[in-house]
Amino acid sequence: MENFSADDIRLVLNTARKFKQVIRRGGDKKLSNLRGKAIVNLFYEPSTRTRTSFELAGKYLGADVVSITSGTSSIVKGESLRDTLRTIEAMGTDAIVMRHKSEGAADFATRVVKPIIINAGDGAHAHPSQALLDLFTIEQAKGRLAGLKVVIVGDILHSRVARSDVYAMTRMGMEVHFAGFKTMLPRFFDFDGVTIHESLDDALKNADVVNVLRIQLERQQAGLFPSTREYARVFGINEDRLRLVKDDALILHPGPQNKGLEISSEATYCERSAIHDQVQNGVAIRMALLNLTLGGAA
Ligand code: NCD
Repeated sequence: MENFSADDIRLVLNTARKFKQVIRRGGDKKLSNLRGKAIVNLFYEPSTRTRTSFELAGKYLGADVVSITSGTSSIVKGESLRDTLRTIEAMGTDAIVMRHKSEGAADFATRVVKPIIINAGDGAHAHPSQALLDLFTIEQAKGRLAGLKVVIVGDILHSRVARSDVYAMTRMGMEVHFAGFKTMLPRFFDFDGVTIHESLDDALKNADVVNVLRIQLERQQAGLFPSTREYARVFGINEDRLRLVKDDALILHPGPQNKGLEISSEATYCERSAIHDQVQNGVAIRMALLNLTLGGAA
């Protein structure tokens, strides 16, 4: 997201809007924009939403799509990332959608093979398609982005979603706030225009959007917060906390959720929650990204 201008983001959002109509119209969703193109999803980390939505997005656009997950491929036999990428390239692949535990893995891939590389999450670094679907969801619900106050709550330090969101949201003129235990906030803070709060209640005042992050238990060393009960009490989003935000505020969560830890069931299913919409919008955004990068018809 760092390299995306406001115009680039606008193009993706406008394209996604057209594809969302295709998904919602029911009946035959299959287009022929990417007919004859081959896309491989290469996922070294678990995923439900991102992998399935990239796969469906490619299929709805008429491409041939294959998904590879680490447990069922030669990755378990110790093949290097470079060799796996070159093997996939040799089969005539046009795009590789990649998720990997190491920061910079997608960038590395662009240096060793020719297909288009789309980063579907690299360690704690970036998750650009999630940031774009977050923007799309907010704009669909609110009719605008500029001037809205968004509070990103939780494990910012380990969150590739937060990092990509910050670039995308500030670029579109949104006011970004972070809230979390001090141990979960970036130590070397290099984002301009972001306000940091150690009190969630202060941060939530007058918020238009609350983006609740999953506690990244797999990426943290123990001890970032005293106990899960303590975390839920101090930083969990629940009905009481939602009284502080604007009446029409939107609740987002990228999923999967640790229910009862960072978010309560009531908050997930309340009227203001757009968590379910984020999933459908994710397919439209990924259709837009594949269509734009692989030169499908406008
Ligand atoms: C996010 C991810 O994998 O980074 N999930 C997703 O893509 N929907 C967020 C997370 O796992 O916490």
